[in-house]
Amino acid sequence: MKTIIEPFKIKSVEPIRMTTRAEREPLLDEAGRNLFLIKADDVLIDLLTDSGTSSMSAEQWAAIMRGDESYAGSRSFFAFEAEVKRITGFKHVIPTHQGRAAEKILFTVLHRPGAVYLGNTHFDTTRANIEFAGDTAIDLPIPDGLIPSKYHPFKGNIDLGRLETALGEHGPKVRAVIITVTNNSGGGQPVSMENIREASRLARKHGTLFIIDSCRFAENAYFIKRREPGYEGKSVLDIAQEMFSYADGTTMSAKKDGLANIGGFLGVHDDALAVEARNLLILTEGFPTYGGLAGRDLEAIAQGLREVLDESYLRYRLRTIEYLVEKLQQNGVPLIIPAGGHAVYLDAGAFLPQIRPEQFPGVVLANELYLEGGVRGVEIGSAMFGKRDPRTGAPIGPAMELVRLAIPRRVYTQSHIDYVAEVVIAVHARRTALRGLRMTYEAPFLRHFTARFAEA
Ligand code: F0G
Repeated sequence: MKTIIEPFKIKSVEPIRMTTRAEREPLLDEAGRNLFLIKADDVLIDLLTDSGTSSMSAEQWAAIMRGDESYAGSRSFFAFEAEVKRITGFKHVIPTHQGRAAEKILFTVLHRPGAVYLGNTHFDTTRANIEFAGDTAIDLPIPDGLIPSKYHPFKGNIDLGRLETALGEHGPKVRAVIITVTNNSGGGQPVSMENIREASRLARKHGTLFIIDSCRFAENAYFIKRREPGYEGKSVLDIAQEMFSYADGTTMSAKKDGLANIGGFLGVHDDALAVEARNLLILTEGFPTYGGLAGRDLEAIAQGLREVLDESYLRYRLRTIEYLVEKLQQNGVPLIIPAGGHAVYLDAGAFLPQIRPEQFPGVVLANELYLEGGVRGVEIGSAMFGKRDPRTGAPIGPAMELVRLAIPRRVYTQSHIDYVAEVVIAVHARRTALRGLRMTYEAPFLRHFTARFAEA
């Protein structure tokens, strides 16, 4: 059959509150034209993030009832630990309340004066935790990774040539090489096994650690199966195990490929590193057998990790994104190609060439999608990453102006996706009429969350 169906039936439903454009206009005005300040009940299709927004399965809800809430030595911890070890092979598994908590612990423990981290593209919380420790994060994506309209099967790869040069340049200051799978900030694009293997070899040759940010490891593994010669016949579990076999450690947000609403972990092999990490964990998260989570959360993650490796699930998952990308492309909508694993990234710069980066084309586009059809995406551009020159006050823009439409796992059906395509295509048809915005309020850091806008 040609149609790839959702490989599940729906047992429990959550109603969507329907609204009209006339109702959404004043709501957006009251929110200072910032979609982060809109109530979720006023959104029809919420594509703000794929993080913590998955639907849980009947088996996960059943596992929640089995949760053992003992403070120490909880049975649920051992179920969680066994599942993480089966997939990743790490000797030490340290639960945390979400991905950034694992990052905070790892980068605090690894900190040395002048430390440097090299990666394909550090996600914002990864970079923020490295910089908060006083250290430096350097992104080394392959050049094709920064060109939205260019096809490359593994656009998330790290540039191995620049990695080798940087390893030589920074010498022992490099505390780790970090590969993020899939590369969220670069379009949800996968990293090939060959690239992971080589980056790991270079890291080890230079005596530094090799870490995988594994939030979306199952999506990455399935891309490898589909696109990398030699992996067609392997199971996704085998591929994931091979990916982790090259690493000294991993940070994971279980809110993505853990199919859970909260949770994460740090995995490492080194005994001394694990002792230091656990000591910090006790200080900030909790006892090592729960780490900031309830026993029931650990059960939900253990079950989620089993389900996420199911190939009919992954086939449907990746097809959803690809289907939306194909529909939009056929209608001339500019976006990042090929389709990534968890989101569609509209190229707002090319969509609205009449709006200069200082007038936030991504915010304008995201707002129009909301007004048109109640669809909420997120701007990844000048509002989120733009900075001001400390001397002149002039704006310094990021590399791309994007709007990310992240697809929650197992939440929306094909007709929801058809609807989203219709909304984007309708906005595209009247794109020349859209005008820029100016920021009327901005906080000193992470300004995109609370900024307010008005017509420029
Ligand atoms: N690493 C990557 C690649 C991520 O995408 C995220 C979160 C994190 C780390 C941090 O994990 O949220 O559990 O603390 N990404 C979400 C997003 C927020 O919308 O892309 P967390």
